Amino acid sequence: MRNTILAALTALLLLGGSASAEKFPARPITIVVPFSAGGPSDAMARILAERMKTSLGEALLIENVTGAGGSIGVGRVVHAAADGYTIGFGHLGTHVANGAIYKLGYDLVADLEPVVLLPSNPMIIVSKNAVPAKTLPELLAWLKARPQPATAGTAGAGSGSHIAGLAFENATGIKLQYVPYRGTGPALNDLVAGQIDIIVDQTSNSINQVRAGTIRAYAITDAKRVPQAPDIPTTDEAGLSGFHMTLWSGLWAPKGTPQEIVAKINAAAVEALNDPVVVKQLENLGLQMPPKDQSTPEALGAWQKAEIAKWWPMIKAANVKVD
Ligand code: MLT
Repeated sequence: MRNTILAALTALLLLGGSASAEKFPARPITIVVPFSAGGPSDAMARILAERMKTSLGEALLIENVTGAGGSIGVGRVVHAAADGYTIGFGHLGTHVANGAIYKLGYDLVADLEPVVLLPSNPMIIVSKNAVPAKTLPELLAWLKARPQPATAGTAGAGSGSHIAGLAFENATGIKLQYVPYRGTGPALNDLVAGQIDIIVDQTSNSINQVRAGTIRAYAITDAKRVPQAPDIPTTDEAGLSGFHMTLWSGLWAPKGTPQEIVAKINAAAVEALNDPVVVKQLENLGLQMPPKDQSTPEALGAWQKAEIAKWWPMIKAANVKVD
């Protein structure tokens, strides 16, 4: 009799688990974006959320949870219920660099479920228009000649723009004075206004201001030009050979989120990344779609671990102090 009850209870539990996955989603899903609205993370998340709604049948609501280079927003996801209704947008900065800079109180690999690798883009070296340089060599000469380090906008210590700044310092020997914002959206506004000197920014964030002529671009941190910005030279062409950096993004869920639910969110994201309308929107920002054979949750997990191995030595050597 006792075994029968146990068996029935077990069946109910299993059915309940798969039943919740079968019904998923039964209400809107929150995507936590760990940077302020108007920046590149926010822009990509909103474009994808709009299309993923069609596949999932429920709205995906963007919640901007900012601060500390994105680590506060990631923490929100880590501590959310593992039911698929809270997922997190992140990237090289939040899900790799932050682990080398902050005492996070969570583990970027052990405490999250990878969901899907998202588009990537090279960084772009941009300045306010008042800088009297037209080429990258002229910009480097101007930076070197300054009595005080030039100001470089970032989205906070450990953000992609901050890591790119560290890589720029390593490549040029030029020190920068970082000015942290809650995202590179507001940082870009200050660059346009001439309040800061440069940003080593995501191409997707700066490209429209470059096109509008409100800021100046010097180079793309890649071996090939961005097709949507063919007149901007690569760092190799502009004399800073080998300074390459690609900022990739992804979606994660809290550890313990049922794999069937992770699979449903993954499938909706992959469908969005194969929608020609979405692809055109993202590519117009200079973003590159992820390889189709890298679309599984496992692929994002493996990529994140490889990027941690690649970037942590340089970031730790920079001895970044965070208050
Ligand atoms: C970064 O620099 O980490 C991101 O570009 C910040 C953002 O998406 O606002």
